Amino acid sequence: MPNIYPSASDASDALSVQAVDFTYGNGHSVFRNLSLSARQGEFVALLGPSGCGKTTLLNLLSGFQRPQAGQVLINGAPTRPELPELGYVFQSPQLFPWLSALENVRFGLRIAGRYDEREQREQALRYLRLVGLEAAAGRLPRQLSGGMQQRVSLARALALEPDVLLMDEPFAALDAISRASMNEETLRLWAELGQTVLFITHDIDEAVFLADRVVVLNIAPGGIHSELAIDLPRPRSNLQTRRLPAFLDYRNELMGRIAEVMAQSPFLLEPTS
Ligand SMILES: Nc1ncnc2c1ncn2[C@@H]1O[C@H](COP(=O)(O)OP(=O)(O)OP(=O)(O)O)[C@@H](O)[C@H]1O
Ligand SMILES: [Mg+2]
Repeated sequence: MPNIYPSASDASDALSVQAVDFTYGNGHSVFRNLSLSARQGEFVALLGPSGCGKTTLLNLLSGFQRPQAGQVLINGAPTRPELPELGYVFQSPQLFPWLSALENVRFGLRIAGRYDEREQREQALRYLRLVGLEAAAGRLPRQLSGGMQQRVSLARALALEPDVLLMDEPFAALDAISRASMNEETLRLWAELGQTVLFITHDIDEAVFLADRVVVLNIAPGGIHSELAIDLPRPRSNLQTRRLPAFLDYRNELMGRIAEVMAQSPFLLEPTS
């Protein structure tokens, strides 16, 4: 398998983490000398076991956490939370239960002060249409399935037209069928909109299906274990891509690497008290 070693960063990278050290206030060290980058338009999946620092890395990228050493750049400039180039999709949809799908999507535009009210509605509707939910625009979140709610949350992030989309296990709460369908949907939107995506997951199949490159993280404070370029043809579909022999090879390779990561941390297997 090619490309075991982390790639060098470049001034034109959409996101770049350079020699970052990060320790929480209680002394828990999560990253030491971590470097990671993504090219414009690249789809990078970040794979690692629970507790390895995936969400922490996302918080560093979004500027919600500051590293003690090193720097985090978005399009070549230091990151900060209100950066308009950044969009987020979280594990749970986090919709306002009293607002319709349309108003939930419009909310981000209102906060960002973009467009007038009529344009906000048009933009919200455009992105609801893109995720296949135009007909559900007037429904409240409780009138939508979990998968539909996550589509609304995706539309809300996309409506702000971010260059870089940070996704933290966005489909982890969905059943396998909805999840596979959302994976296809994500690739369709990405092909259409062309953002740079950093997609956090602990699902090996999902990482292989989606990504141009999978970055495997070690248990904290280990940083990056390895990277793997996923050279599967696009467009990818559940029916065809997941049964390709190369898909299974990538999957098995990553399984081996995750087993290696886990073997370095036997304490993870101890029962919690
Ligand atoms: N606010 C905090 N203070 C101290 N330690 C923290 C804090 N938040 C997270 N940690 C610790 O930092 C490590 C990384 O946490 P993080 O949430 O980034 O992991 P993760 O890879 O996202 O895990 P999961 O897959 O379970 O979401 C864990 O050991 C966690 O216990
Ligand atoms: Mg997490």
